Amino acid sequence: TSLKNYNTFGIDVNAKYFAEVKSIADLKEVFSHLIAPKGLLGSKEKQLLVLGGGSNMLFTKDFDGLVVKVSIPGISFTTEGDDVMVTAGGGIVWNDLVNYCVDNGFAGIENLSLIPGTVGASPIQNIGAYGVELKDVFHSCQAFEIATGEIRTFTYADCKFDYRDSVFKNELKGKYIITSVVFHLSKKANLQTHYGAITTELENRHINEPTIADVSKVVSHIRVSKLPDPKTIGNAGSFFKNPVIEKPAFDKLIKKFPEIVNYPIANGNVKLAAGWLIEQCGFKGKVVGETGTWKNQALVLVNHGHASGQEVYNFSEQIIKTVYTKFNVQLEREVNIL
Ligand code: EPU
Repeated sequence: TSLKNYNTFGIDVNAKYFAEVKSIADLKEVFSHLIAPKGLLGSKEKQLLVLGGGSNMLFTKDFDGLVVKVSIPGISFTTEGDDVMVTAGGGIVWNDLVNYCVDNGFAGIENLSLIPGTVGASPIQNIGAYGVELKDVFHSCQAFEIATGEIRTFTYADCKFDYRDSVFKNELKGKYIITSVVFHLSKKANLQTHYGAITTELENRHINEPTIADVSKVVSHIRVSKLPDPKTIGNAGSFFKNPVIEKPAFDKLIKKFPEIVNYPIANGNVKLAAGWLIEQCGFKGKVVGETGTWKNQALVLVNHGHASGQEVYNFSEQIIKTVYTKFNVQLEREVNIL
């Protein structure tokens, strides 16, 4: 099966086996036939890849195992006073959930409008944008344990969320498939509009008392103007994380580069804008063969049509080396390499 339509980078690689699951029952069936105890693949979890929207990965070669595409549907909610608990199936497209909540007046995820990918993938890297992270509204999730076929509930604390990080990227990597997520939203908006680009755009539109729909529209507008649409230009959003460095290292750096974009964070550490570092190295909008960086956002690597995953990967290596040489800062990939 070609995976070209299952990854937003649009890389054309093949998977040996492919299964789409629409329910927990489907999952159980796939696993009883293919994995344990003496299934087609043996019990090697390594040979399994769980796919949501495929919006955060770069395939560099064919996948010699089973790809499971999670398409579990369903959105429901309960309310108590102003509190709204929304439960969404792992296969729901993230932005469909955002629209559903905005339309119903449920506040909390409007800043996360237009993020590609699925609900099931959202906790894994604690998706975030414009001053809000998934962890701010996450209540719990349900997941299928690959080794046993059992369903387990993960609380907020269980997930160990951090910047673009969770337990599912670390200790429990590859061990669970998230089947549904419960979000704690509110009928009373607590709008986060302090992020510079949002403030500016609201001012441009002369909106003084924004609604959640206004914020969602403004965020969508900013994203469309800055980020390439994966439907036409393959990409996986930010390719690298914004690096965090310690204060002494930062003090040295800012002496040499007074313009450096930075955000002081907890513990006296400083987060840098990877996009700025990359742009300063002359990479913004650069085209190298079939790959390159996006013209409006240097942090986004793109596929101009026929890039191979290896080509994109090699280019990312070149960026890491160049940024390191100029700034002595080590960039870390945010996208999963397969
Ligand atoms: N910048 C440059 N040149 C560039 C790109 C950015 O100088 O080519 C500077 C900007 O001028 C700005 C700063 O870097 O001062 C930050 O840029 P931006 O607001 O575009 O956000 P970002 O830090 O590059 C992060 C997230 C995005 C998220 C935006 C908005 C990461 C790795 N990326 O990007 O998330 O949408 O903030 O909140 O944290 C993603 O994870 O895939 C993603 C797109």
